[in-house]
Amino acid sequence: MTEQADPGWDASYTAGAPAPWDIGRPQPAFARLAEAGRLTERLLDVGCGTGENALLAASCGAEVTGIDVAPTAIARARAKASERGLAARFEVADALNLGSLRLTADTVIDSGVFHVFGDEDRVRYVASLAAVLRPAGACYLMCFSDRQPGTWGPRRVREEELRAAFSGGWAIESITAATFEINPLEGITQVQAWLAAIRRT
Ligand SMILES: C[S@@+](CC[C@H](N)C(=O)[O-])C[C@H]1O[C@@H](n2cnc3c(N)ncnc32)[C@H](O)[C@@H]1O
Repeated sequence: MTEQADPGWDASYTAGAPAPWDIGRPQPAFARLAEAGRLTERLLDVGCGTGENALLAASCGAEVTGIDVAPTAIARARAKASERGLAARFEVADALNLGSLRLTADTVIDSGVFHVFGDEDRVRYVASLAAVLRPAGACYLMCFSDRQPGTWGPRRVREEELRAAFSGGWAIESITAATFEINPLEGITQVQAWLAAIRRT
């Protein structure tokens, strides 16, 4: 572990019911990336939660590390890897300090993490991603979208904000409309998202 875990995030994994995002299967958008052969090589899942996207990548042959600030989530991810006979490494670590992991990734995935950060931490986060992703490596990032009505849940992200955040040292290959699947929340089971494919230059 590289930094003090945030008890706020851990609490979302120790509550009685699974957190809205903890759906017990990979997000379909990441399943499509796996089918397309994009989740490969040395892959880092940042803010991996209980590990479903990371374990999907591991089942496709990627050399996977998943990190999360919540120890309970990491313990569950490790248990799932063991139960499924998958080789994946899961560590408690801070997404804002990925350089301390002392690893190099060919591929980074982010399912629902970028949008948790405020403006200042967003800058730190992008720099942190750059510290572990090799030049020409790919980052696949899915975040809440401003197309999602309402104000509940994480902050909405505009496409221009994504472009601005990754404007220096990155090439945005695509930003496409996507959806998060969530556990039913006030009758909602899908949330509008952006899926960005970004390459480090
Ligand atoms: C919306 S959840 C998404 C979890 C997972 N990617 C998924 O798709 O199920 C956001 C995750 O980011 C983690 N997180 C928040 N801040 C973090 C930080 N500074 N470092 C590492 N993980 C963080 C939380 O603990 C939580 O697991």
